Amino acid sequence: MIRLDKLLAKNGYGSRKEVKKLIRNSLVSINGNIVKNDDIKISENDIILVDGVQCFYQENYYIMLNKPAGYVSANEDNLHPTIMDLIDIYNSDMFCVGRLDIDTTGLCLITTDGKLAHNLLSNKKHVEKEYLVTIAHPLNQEDIDKLSSGIVIDGDELCLPAKVNIINDNLITLTICEGKFHQVKRMLKAVNNEVIKLKRIRMKDLILDENLAEGEYRLLTEEEINKLKA
Ligand code: URA
Repeated sequence: MIRLDKLLAKNGYGSRKEVKKLIRNSLVSINGNIVKNDDIKISENDIILVDGVQCFYQENYYIMLNKPAGYVSANEDNLHPTIMDLIDIYNSDMFCVGRLDIDTTGLCLITTDGKLAHNLLSNKKHVEKEYLVTIAHPLNQEDIDKLSSGIVIDGDELCLPAKVNIINDNLITLTICEGKFHQVKRMLKAVNNEVIKLKRIRMKDLILDENLAEGEYRLLTEEEINKLKA
């Protein structure tokens, strides 16, 4: 159950005050009955119409975006477009779980669920993030060993062991379970290599949907949400 005015405000129908005005103006109905009272609670099965348009009951949003390069993974930016510019769903509480660099592409999880975000980002939980990495030079066995056993970056920052999977001389997947600043780029730099392209393809069990072109998004399925929460 959620309060009607809270649900409408969360779904972009304005502030709580503006939502109350919609209700006062008889523009909101539940199951065909015009709503008179703004502190009413609604449940999943109620059909809510605002000025004739259905508003879905949703406690939280979970969106998978295939981020293109050139977009900042933040809600606002003074210089560049942000990932929120790519999403038509408006909700003032939405944010991106963990930042990708402006030139990184791939899986962005956008949600309103602060608890889930906290669990996915917590350093204690060691949630896996898998990247497809185009590299300037082939990795040798010594490089792989260093990355896999926990490499020191920038002189004094120790990374947890990463999983390295060689696809070809210039393409690898790297799976890390922390979120240090520019971590993948710095790890490759520490073995005298360079990241040419970086794409996140997985976070925990959530795999980037290959049907999403860059800039496209979709809502997560119930199953995907449950796996992320597990
Ligand atoms: N590591 C990086 O270096 N950049 C990203 O965007 C993500 C991980």
